[in-house]
Amino acid sequence: MASNSNLVAFIIGAGAHIGSAVASTLHDKGYRVALGSRSLPAAEQRKPEYLYVQLDAAKRGAIETAFDTVVDKLGPVNVVVYNAATVAAPPTPADVLSLPVDSYYDAANLGIGAFIAAQKALPSFKNEIHRNHPKAFITTGNLLPFTQYSKSEWFTLGIQKALETRFISTAVEHYKADDIRFYFATLVSNDGGIPPYSDFLKGAPTYAEVYWKLINNKEQTNWDHRFTLEGESFPHSTN
Ligand SMILES: NC(=O)c1ccc[n+]([C@@H]2O[C@H](COP(=O)([O-])OP(=O)(O)OC[C@H]3O[C@@H](n4cnc5c(N)ncnc54)[C@H](OP(=O)(O)O)[C@@H]3O)[C@@H](O)[C@H]2O)c1
Repeated sequence: MASNSNLVAFIIGAGAHIGSAVASTLHDKGYRVALGSRSLPAAEQRKPEYLYVQLDAAKRGAIETAFDTVVDKLGPVNVVVYNAATVAAPPTPADVLSLPVDSYYDAANLGIGAFIAAQKALPSFKNEIHRNHPKAFITTGNLLPFTQYSKSEWFTLGIQKALETRFISTAVEHYKADDIRFYFATLVSNDGGIPPYSDFLKGAPTYAEVYWKLINNKEQTNWDHRFTLEGESFPHSTN
């Protein structure tokens, strides 16, 4: 760990794309950064500046243990980015009930993982060491929870995100006095819709820039934060 600062971020679901870009920005800004995923990069691909933590965010015990490891090694966390997501399509697309029940449970558990991660983060956020530091819990979002119907191939992903929005929209009201920011952050197209996948693939630097701004927002803004590939906030109302 190169940084001696008390600023600590834990990115859950940290892969080569968003996680990598956000980690790099936070490290450059003086953060100690922990990266969590189910499979860790090979030893020769790991960067010395990061703490790599193996966890399956769909498993309560794994999140709790990983959090304890991060706090033990880096100190109390003041930023959490929950970026993990998975997709399991029903084997017969026109028959949503062909989805194995275990896939439904897995999807729900990954959504609940955001709640568990925040529950574990709360004592860190409230630690005296972070009294004057930004405190933020950001979930990487998409537009699925904002409409009831989606194609069956996105059904399990929608479950995860819907559970996350239910939780984030409530938490944002409950921790204002503690100055903790909660965001469900979604890249959208310039007309507010689902961006083409090619835009999403170009989006990592934008995610890093936007998350940095959200972490450092002086005031909590709409928890349902939508932004374009240019990093501009997309104005909208949240139901
Ligand atoms: N707004 C949009 O239009 C849009 C479009 C696409 C995606 N997204 C969102 O963007 C996020 C993914 O972005 P990305 O490009 O950064 O993906 P990525 O580079 O693939 O990183 C995601 C990482 O999450 C990890 N992960 C998956 N399941 C996990 C679990 N159960 N526990 C712990 N780690 C887990 C994966 O590693 P392991 O497999 O090793 O665990 C993976 O490396 C998701 O939240 C997704 O819903 C948004």
